[in-house]
Amino acid sequence: MSDSFQIKLDGKLVSASSGETVFEVAKRAGVEIPTLCHDTRLEPVGACRVCLVEVAGQRRLQPGCAWVVTPDMEIQTQSDRIERHRKVLYNLYKSDHTLDDAGLPVETGNSNQLRELCQSVPDMKLAPVEAPRSDRPMDDNPYIQFEPDLCILCARCTRYCDEVEAVNAITLSNRGSATTIATAGQRSLIDTTCELCGGCIDTCPTGALIEKKVPKNLVQLGGTESVRSTCNFCGVGCQLDLHVHNDRVVKVTSPEPGETLNDGNLCVKGRFAYDFIHHQDRITEPLIRDANGDLQPATWEEAIVATANGLNRVRQKHGSDALGFISSSRCTGEENYLMQKLARAAFSTNNVHQCAAT
Ligand code: SF4
Ligand code: SF4
Ligand code: FES
Repeated sequence: MSDSFQIKLDGKLVSASSGETVFEVAKRAGVEIPTLCHDTRLEPVGACRVCLVEVAGQRRLQPGCAWVVTPDMEIQTQSDRIERHRKVLYNLYKSDHTLDDAGLPVETGNSNQLRELCQSVPDMKLAPVEAPRSDRPMDDNPYIQFEPDLCILCARCTRYCDEVEAVNAITLSNRGSATTIATAGQRSLIDTTCELCGGCIDTCPTGALIEKKVPKNLVQLGGTESVRSTCNFCGVGCQLDLHVHNDRVVKVTSPEPGETLNDGNLCVKGRFAYDFIHHQDRITEPLIRDANGDLQPATWEEAIVATANGLNRVRQKHGSDALGFISSSRCTGEENYLMQKLARAAFSTNNVHQCAAT
């Protein structure tokens, strides 16, 4: 079979490659197929049934996120049958979900994609389902909260924890309507292998996993302004979106998967350790000790001149090898290169080290 071929998508010929799914081909062709359980970083599982499409020759609707295309396949992403399916499916999800006064799935500070989908179909007024899904009774981890009534059991969180983090701290447990997201022995996440990366929060499509630190009514409070930045906890250079409310960073997320080198992922420090930004003890300007040994504010120029003078004094009095230069793994590769250049070329010493080298 050739690697490239054509399929018919909604009556139009589009190009496809072997191994691609209907969802991937449609996305490239600008055709939107709704999804809930799909995340480009994870193996498709076809759990939520939101992306069902018609495949010519197939009796049942098939999941576009998992159905692999073959030459000359004919796919329909819009039809009366698909519309009927979505209307019933979204209303079934609603009957098993916490709703707001408008009868829509609630928002918890993270976006709720189910809410957006439900707005696209008429309400069928189905009776609510009382699902006996249990929470972890005593999870005192500092960052992650689980709301079982908002969970649609798409398993994005557990698959992310397994396939991306390779940690397996959470899993689907129980059966039927009692199925829930659990840890071993219902322990707190901090008593499991969890690395508190927060990736499960990020991938959850309904806001059933939420950040404890983020105000739940952030949207009602006027939302946030997003500022792209680079994480400064190590030299990898992960990109962050800082969410700013009233001049304070209230939340940190990664850009979308595929957009930057961290591919939608962050570690515990990048995602949650942002309180230092507004800490009262944070040094925000250069300081130089005066004759009494007290620290006094200075300009960057004054600080650099004082540092150079101090280094030269030591060198003149005790020789180059009395100096040592230590740089940080928080700096970029270029900054670390410049540090060894400064030590070797400007101060004639090989006494240079970097904390990540040990
Ligand atoms: S925070 Fe990370 S490691 Fe912990 S359960 Fe979520 S995905 Fe797994
Ligand atoms: S917690 Fe969120 S990501 Fe995990 S199964 Fe439930 S809805 Fe899906
Ligand atoms: S997105 Fe395809 S089944 Fe969930």
